[in-house]
Amino acid sequence: MSAAAFIEKNKDRFLNELLDLLRIPSVSADPKFKNDVFAAANFVKESLEKAGADVAEICETAGYPIVYGEKIIDPSLPTVLVYGHYDVQPADPYELWDSPPFEPVIKKTAAHPEGAIFARGSADDKGQFYMHVKAFEAMMATGELTCNVKFMIEGEEEVGSDNLDAFVIANKERLKADVILISDTHMISMQDPSITVGLRGMAYMEVEVTGANRDLHSGTYGGAVANPINVLCKMIASLKDENEHITIPGFYDKVQELAEEQRKRLNEAPFELKEYQDKLDIESVHGEKDYTTIERVGIRPTLDVNGIWGGYTGEGAKTVLPSKAFAKISMRLVPDQDWHEIAKLFEDHFKSIAPKSVKVKVKKHHGGAPAVVSDSSVGYRAAEAAMEETFGKRPIPTREGGSIPIVALFQKELGSDPILFGFGLDTDALHSPNEHYGVKNYFIGIETIAAFFRHFRNLNQQ
Ligand code: BES
Ligand code: MN
Ligand code: MN
Repeated sequence: MSAAAFIEKNKDRFLNELLDLLRIPSVSADPKFKNDVFAAANFVKESLEKAGADVAEICETAGYPIVYGEKIIDPSLPTVLVYGHYDVQPADPYELWDSPPFEPVIKKTAAHPEGAIFARGSADDKGQFYMHVKAFEAMMATGELTCNVKFMIEGEEEVGSDNLDAFVIANKERLKADVILISDTHMISMQDPSITVGLRGMAYMEVEVTGANRDLHSGTYGGAVANPINVLCKMIASLKDENEHITIPGFYDKVQELAEEQRKRLNEAPFELKEYQDKLDIESVHGEKDYTTIERVGIRPTLDVNGIWGGYTGEGAKTVLPSKAFAKISMRLVPDQDWHEIAKLFEDHFKSIAPKSVKVKVKKHHGGAPAVVSDSSVGYRAAEAAMEETFGKRPIPTREGGSIPIVALFQKELGSDPILFGFGLDTDALHSPNEHYGVKNYFIGIETIAAFFRHFRNLNQQ
């Protein structure tokens, strides 16, 4: 039996196993789910074992464990390292979900006429890394495994992968591979397959603005003492000018400007502004002047407030002049911006624009480097050939706005090419309520991964 026939024959089981994994609420950000995160790690380990791995182990870290697995069929053959994450984003706000986030259901959508699995983590990243486990199982079962394979599935991606760098550096030999496959990104659409070749980096900050040493009566003191919420809003507003250009001095110093020719090619990717706006129910897009939407997310840095709080937010009205205001602010970075440098520029600038009437604290959460990967490596060509085979169309390279900080570390420490082999769609509602992943995407992904192994082996032998 061929791997493709095996996949076809085991479709129901492959789907049901993923649904079981999705029932585990492995939210890494919230300690309340600690046991579930460990349970998900165990689930991954057991699935690797069942699929035929010789080694499948839970590697403890200072945080959540990394699951490592491998099957070495012949050390002289090429080796594929698969990276993914079994942790998920918090599902909040729960009330905005049409069905409970950890009780997966399959429903049709406009983008997924054959049905999509609705659950937190379905697209990011359980549904995507699990395709690799199932492709591995199918290749093992049918004698079609043509390369050695290693798995490294972590549990802290959604909280900044704090313990992964040390693990990678300590296990360089063990993780040695000829290519790294990561399915944790999007493609343009089912009709327009694509392979991501650029990801943005990130610097995530938190600020605290303090006015008086206690909350005050807003009548007795209002107008005479700084309101830290008003001040914070003003400070945040000043971080971008009327062209949506970031005003932090030095922020753009290291930003690589693309040549006209490269920009032109980037903008040749299929993109319908009207459709993009309609899907989001917005009248107009909003961003840096003189750049297209594709460029604004793909090759330009940006700054966003992720959350802002302070004062009274309960029922009814309370008159209060709060003592403190807070905001979480992230900056998406592009080559060659360094996140530690950017964090420092932000901190210095933010403190410098604070009026004397308030005190400001700036804290650095986490960050990561941007990455650009080759679109002509052997791995890329194998991925391209595999997608062309299963989608019937040659994929195009794209640059995405999201971040997977570990990609740059892989390039530096392991020296092998990471391939961003994602099968999700940008409408899959990652990190949002009603996250979903197409059933068809899941199966075509499994098939494409199996095809990748074949092409990668062949290209390496040429
Ligand atoms: N899978 C995403 C990254 C992603 C999403 C890349 C869509 C490209 C397209 C990943 O799980 C993620 O959410 N990353 C975080 C990184 C952060 C926590 C350091 C992100 O991009 O916000
Ligand atoms: Mn992800
Ligand atoms: Mn994510």
